[in-house]
Amino acid sequence: MAEEKDKKMTAPGQVCVSCLGPIGGARRGVRYASGILVCESCLKQGVQVLGMLKQREDPREAISLEESEDLETGLKRPREIAAFLDQYVIGQEKAKRTLAVAVYNHYKRVFQSAGENVSIEKSNILLIGPTGSGKTCLARTLAKLLDVPFAISDATALTQAGYVGEDVENVLLRLINAAGGDISRAEKGIVYIDEIDKIARKGENVSITRDVSGEGVQQGLLKILEGTVASVPPKGGRKHPGDAMLEINTRNILFICGGAFDGIGKIIGGEKSGKALGFGARVGESREESLSGLLKKVTPGDLIRYGLTPEFTGRLPVTAVLEELDEDALVRILSEPRNALVRQYQALMAMDGVELVFEEDALREIARTALEKRTGARGLRSIMESVMEDVMFTLPDEEDAEKCVITKGAVLGKEPPLILKRQLPEAQAS
Ligand SMILES: Nc1ncnc2c1ncn2[C@@H]1O[C@H](COP(=O)(O)OP(=O)(O)OP(=O)(O)O)[C@@H](O)[C@H]1O
Ligand SMILES: [Mg+2]
Repeated sequence: MAEEKDKKMTAPGQVCVSCLGPIGGARRGVRYASGILVCESCLKQGVQVLGMLKQREDPREAISLEESEDLETGLKRPREIAAFLDQYVIGQEKAKRTLAVAVYNHYKRVFQSAGENVSIEKSNILLIGPTGSGKTCLARTLAKLLDVPFAISDATALTQAGYVGEDVENVLLRLINAAGGDISRAEKGIVYIDEIDKIARKGENVSITRDVSGEGVQQGLLKILEGTVASVPPKGGRKHPGDAMLEINTRNILFICGGAFDGIGKIIGGEKSGKALGFGARVGESREESLSGLLKKVTPGDLIRYGLTPEFTGRLPVTAVLEELDEDALVRILSEPRNALVRQYQALMAMDGVELVFEEDALREIARTALEKRTGARGLRSIMESVMEDVMFTLPDEEDAEKCVITKGAVLGKEPPLILKRQLPEAQAS
């Protein structure tokens, strides 16, 4: 038996996938079924921290090939995370870096052994950026990548205890569900709370429809963000006295909150009166600074003036700012991401046997129109839909159509898209 285990040990001249240190000679390691190598010390750390396997003196005994699955996929480095995000989200490099580092550190904390004397604290994150700049998109993409449970919730659905709506604990229920009901796995997960700006306390002159519960929801979230043992109603919705509750410790759960904070530009600009300045709105002539520039300077004080409570702001120590997307970025968003709109329409047309081509200046025109709408990349979809509608209606009937070219004129509505026909056999031609 011992002989067989020894076979799993590696040959000299190879490196550990985790620390990139050499494996060979005195530094031993283990090769997983997929060919990935991990050195003895990384392995030991993983084994201790995961608490999934009993630690023994000899790591070769501590881990078997079958049990090693979780270790094999466990760690994602910041660069890896950012590179994955790049496939779906254009630009926003700074926010990607912040998220990648936070998630990496989160992994480290999850993998940290209980006995270590420096306990790493989590740094919950606040994502701020204009509407349609990619906040939700970033969160969804992260969810695709991560090996820890990840759940997305919407702050607008939450209400203060006692009001109609979901209790704040429901964000945790989603996480537990994402962990397949395994509470101890959920306790190491990541929660994204979207539209966090919608629970801001509003000033006197703003509609107060959501106000009553807004601040109450912030209060409710405080404890969860900070770390507490929360009771979660297993079926969601509201708590009912007498129901059996799921207990979950949120100390190690990473929270990422995102919001557009419409109008915060005005606050950062230091102006206290007048109509709020939306993200889309043009910044006053007299002020040189762009909204993205202003946003980079956002301070906790600005967030408090916007309507977050000081306690809430204090529990989101890391802020990442997303930039307003410019025309070039919008053109790239149309065609580059793996699920880009252009690719989606090309796939649709391919099902009718037609090749769809967008001319460069057509894409640029779509981007320009979207820019005017001031809804970021969110505007692209509806513009694309209106450009494509007619041709999507008629093309399925044109059996000899081979290629459809969308020109700038077609986007502007000045001419129909160009349809190239297949060469027909002599008999049918004319
Ligand atoms: N940087 C980007 N790269 C690729 N696609 C993007 C980017 N930003 C936005 N999109 C696309 O635009 C649409 C809207 O983006 P998203 O939902 O992420 O906006 P948001 O920042 O969450 O806005 P809101 O504050 O209004 O919720 C999505 O379909 C998304 O795919
Ligand atoms: Mg969003």
